[in-house]
Amino acid sequence: MVLAAEDQAAVRALWRKLGSNVHVYTTEALERTFLAFPSTKTYFHLSPRSAQVRAHGEKVAFALTVALDHLDDLPRALSALRVLHSHKLRLDPVNFKLLGDSLLVTLAQHYPGDFSSALQASLDKFLRHVISALAPSCR
Ligand code: HEM
Repeated sequence: MVLAAEDQAAVRALWRKLGSNVHVYTTEALERTFLAFPSTKTYFHLSPRSAQVRAHGEKVAFALTVALDHLDDLPRALSALRVLHSHKLRLDPVNFKLLGDSLLVTLAQHYPGDFSSALQASLDKFLRHVISALAPSCR
């Protein structure tokens, strides 16, 4: 599965715009996921604003940026994370989609002028690629 060149360009342009703030939005998306879908909280031990959640927001941001640099081989680039979430944490793969959707909503809220339907589609495809590398059964 390969992400089309125009989708890659659109996601990269957005990422450049987000700069060093990617983690701000991934953390906010995580908090939004917990509020909208409380069952997702069960994988974490502390309150939504906890240090663990902020730390995970930063880790998600970093992993998405790594993913953007390895679009040609996501399963390999994300294999350790796949093992962690599926085997160790036993994460129900539906949670990836809930977080992905929350990230789309969060970014649309902060960047309404950039968030055309075309950008939404490109970002959605990118997140699907990432999710199918993290949870191949979701494909
Ligand atoms: C840990 C990435 C989705 C729960 C991690 C780590 C990364 C990561 C990079 C740290 C790995 C390490 O320390 O070696 C991602 C990405 C996601 C995602 C890229 C989706 C795009 C989720 C979701 C949940 C979740 C949806 C639960 C609802 C956890 C937990 C840990 C973890 C509980 C271990 C504790 C921690 O490191 O904070 N994830 N994750 N992850 N993830 Fe995720």
